[in-house]
Amino acid sequence: MLFFIFAGLIACAGKPVSASCPIEIIPPRVVVRYGDPISVNCSSPSNQIEGMGWESPYEGVPLTQGVSFLPLQIKSLKAWELEPKCYINFNSGDQCLESLSVTVYRKADSVSMTPPSKTGHMVEGKNYRMQCDIANVAPARNLSVYWFKGNEILRNESFDKESNLSPVNLSSVLNLTAHRGDNGSHIRCEAWLNLGPAGPNLVLRSKSHDVTVLYPPAFVKPEKENVTLIAGGRISLNCTATGNPMPSYSWQLSHVIQEENKNQDENQPTLTISYPGTYNCTVSNTQGTKTKYFTVTGAERNYTTLAAMIGVFLTLAALLFLGGYFFVTQDGTFSFCKGSYIRGQPTSSGAI
Ligand SMILES: *[C@@H]1O[C@H](CO)[C@@H](O)[C@H](O)[C@H]1NC(C)=O
Ligand SMILES: *[C@@H]1O[C@H](CO)[C@@H](O)[C@H](O)[C@H]1NC(C)=O
Ligand SMILES: *[C@@H]1O[C@H](CO)[C@@H](O)[C@H](O)[C@H]1NC(C)=O
Ligand SMILES: *[C@@H]1O[C@H](CO)[C@@H](O)[C@H](O)[C@H]1NC(C)=O
Repeated sequence: MLFFIFAGLIACAGKPVSASCPIEIIPPRVVVRYGDPISVNCSSPSNQIEGMGWESPYEGVPLTQGVSFLPLQIKSLKAWELEPKCYINFNSGDQCLESLSVTVYRKADSVSMTPPSKTGHMVEGKNYRMQCDIANVAPARNLSVYWFKGNEILRNESFDKESNLSPVNLSSVLNLTAHRGDNGSHIRCEAWLNLGPAGPNLVLRSKSHDVTVLYPPAFVKPEKENVTLIAGGRISLNCTATGNPMPSYSWQLSHVIQEENKNQDENQPTLTISYPGTYNCTVSNTQGTKTKYFTVTGAERNYTTLAAMIGVFLTLAALLFLGGYFFVTQDGTFSFCKGSYIRGQPTSSGAI
């Protein structure tokens, strides 16, 4: 009865004591850094123990009589692979055996990254290979490598198929295609040694690599623009383009226009003009050249206004003429007082 209660308690605490083999090892699982000490305790709830011992290639404890528990203490654990076993011989003649799970780890000496290119920059659209090297880490199967761009995880790789428990050198490769949006970002790799709840979680990061992506110029606004210029006014044409390295600008102007613009710098992204015509702007950097076309037409709005004014003028003239014609033929004299609508226009008629 007592035994079952005890077994239940252990089940809650961790590893249950099996009814057929009442052995308990506390802690049941050890995660230890290479060279550090460990101390575990083997015991049994049974009072029918004849003797017990620890079977270990390393500081094992021989069969010991008249004890109810037996510790295994290793001052400095210098082995990569070991699985000590505690055994108990019962008065009945039965023997029980329980293994202790030991994970021996070693923090990597270094985590380093090979940059994508020797020149230090990438070219948009090309593929690059980056390598993350993790030196002297154990056990490999508990290692994960994460590739980061800023806070974003680009890739992760685990080595859980690795069986070697002693330190190894590992590497993870990241293939990436350069995009203009990546310029200015930071890429790094991190090695995580995941040792579970019983051990520390060790994270080692590489230095971060500053990404530079070279790309050809691209205009901020459309490649063809139609612009209307109000007569007598000035307007600024905007040829601004993005690109890495920063693009240079050159405006192609006719001789006449060149004269007009001789005080302006033709290597600026904007050009202020006061004449209609066609203006071309060429932007270029080491990655390419692009041309933008501006068609500048004279403002039609001014002509429309003028036409409207002339129209109103002519209409008024016609009205006055007609009015004058009728009044004169009816009365034989000029009379502005006859028609009320004409009375409203004395100044206009005076102006004519
Ligand atoms: C080992 O376990 C026994 C029984 O649970 C306990 O009485 C004893 O104090 C423990 N010894 C050590 C060194 O933890
Ligand atoms: C890991 O690399 C280092 C340096 O290159 C080398 O000295 C060491 O022997 C390597 N270790 C293994 C386990 O291959
Ligand atoms: C590209 O990134 C670098 C930093 O790596 C920055 O100095 C540069 O201004 C960026 N260029 C463009 C065009 O975004
Ligand atoms: C280490 O990795 C192995 C294989 O993935 C896993 O079974 C084990 O639980 C891990 N060890 C720890 C202490 O987490």
